[in-house]
Amino acid sequence: MTVITSIEDLRVLAKRRVPRMFYDYADVGSWTESTYRANEADFDKMLLRQRVAVNIDNRSLRTTMIGQPVSMPVALAPVGLTGMQHADGEILAARACKKFGVPFTLSTMSICSIEDVAQETGGHPFWFQLYVMRDRDFINSLIDRAKAANCSALVLTLDLQIIGQRHKDLKNGMSAPPKPTLRNMINLATKPRWCLGMLGTKRRQFGNIVGHVKGVEDMGSLSEWTSKQFDPQLTWKDVEWIKNRWGGKLILKGIQDVEDARLAVETGADALIVSNHGGRQLDGAQSSIAALPAVVDAVGHKIEVHMDGGIRSGQHVFKAMALGAKGTYIGRSFVYGLGAMGEAGVTKALEIIHKELDLTMAFCGHTDINNVGREVLLPGPIYADARRTGANDEPLFAASRQSANWGDTAAQVASGSSGLATASR
Ligand code: GLV
Repeated sequence: MTVITSIEDLRVLAKRRVPRMFYDYADVGSWTESTYRANEADFDKMLLRQRVAVNIDNRSLRTTMIGQPVSMPVALAPVGLTGMQHADGEILAARACKKFGVPFTLSTMSICSIEDVAQETGGHPFWFQLYVMRDRDFINSLIDRAKAANCSALVLTLDLQIIGQRHKDLKNGMSAPPKPTLRNMINLATKPRWCLGMLGTKRRQFGNIVGHVKGVEDMGSLSEWTSKQFDPQLTWKDVEWIKNRWGGKLILKGIQDVEDARLAVETGADALIVSNHGGRQLDGAQSSIAALPAVVDAVGHKIEVHMDGGIRSGQHVFKAMALGAKGTYIGRSFVYGLGAMGEAGVTKALEIIHKELDLTMAFCGHTDINNVGREVLLPGPIYADARRTGANDEPLFAASRQSANWGDTAAQVASGSSGLATASR
């Protein structure tokens, strides 16, 4: 068997082991998938500034996200249907996170329920992701269940009032319930390991919903219910109501625009996530990493700015941190690990990212992730600040996150002044 050394290795293995309709569900972007692709590709356009002859012994990736200690600034993103990538997927991923010391976020649309995850991980705190649904009684009950399960943050998704069109899902009959087409049945027959796992668990439907909503007792009634539930009328007023109802740490997910970031700050939330939902919603939107600097410059001193989208390596985490993120999230990167090898695969994904992040930080002359700022980046299409070109005279550690002069970066990114930076390379 191939030795697994990268997230790409895990992806290839997951594609072999997970039924196509579920692999595609996680992997898909909307429409042309241009934003989905840009999320990863834009990271790779960013250039790093190597330093030498700096003591890089005793390095640490430890930090905090929303005040909670983490072994590295990486949380698991909420991903619907995780328990279809591998039997009991959410429980396995939560266990891997507990051991690794990073947050696990359970999706509302998970297969294992809030209670399953709480029970099987010994009451260890995790984060719970909430969609705003029309059925406010259901929201109330989810919030109460998340509190009872010791969840230490609520991640409220704001960019899925309607669903972006995903061609592969439509072609695969990927709906709730999934359609048992002949093509799907034939494909299932080629995944014996997955089938055996599923036969060995009782958790095969949306655990947070079925049995908890009146009239939703099986996959058929669930389908009808979910299609009507995502609330197109969602406004900031609902966010305020949910914040008060929850009363704990609140993270707002799905912000791309600086104006929206300012409105998010006004809600008093603890963090926002710069996110385009993994390129699954508005195709044609900019990549998350391209959206990040302007949001950090506008509100980073008032709220923690996190980001997700396209992170497939520790280098990507490093670049997001350099631009001012206080934390990042991986979705597909852990889902590939889970589909490939269950809990061990999620742990492997976290180990890969940890190692890549650590080595990259060291090569850039840093020993503490908390001190990494924009000085580790060379000017390029995403980060256009030409003042740093060949800036060998600047003290390496002078620019702490708080004190770095980030003044005009937003304007440069917005005006697309990357020509300057490109010319200087
Ligand atoms: C749900 O969040 C999805 O993107 O499918």
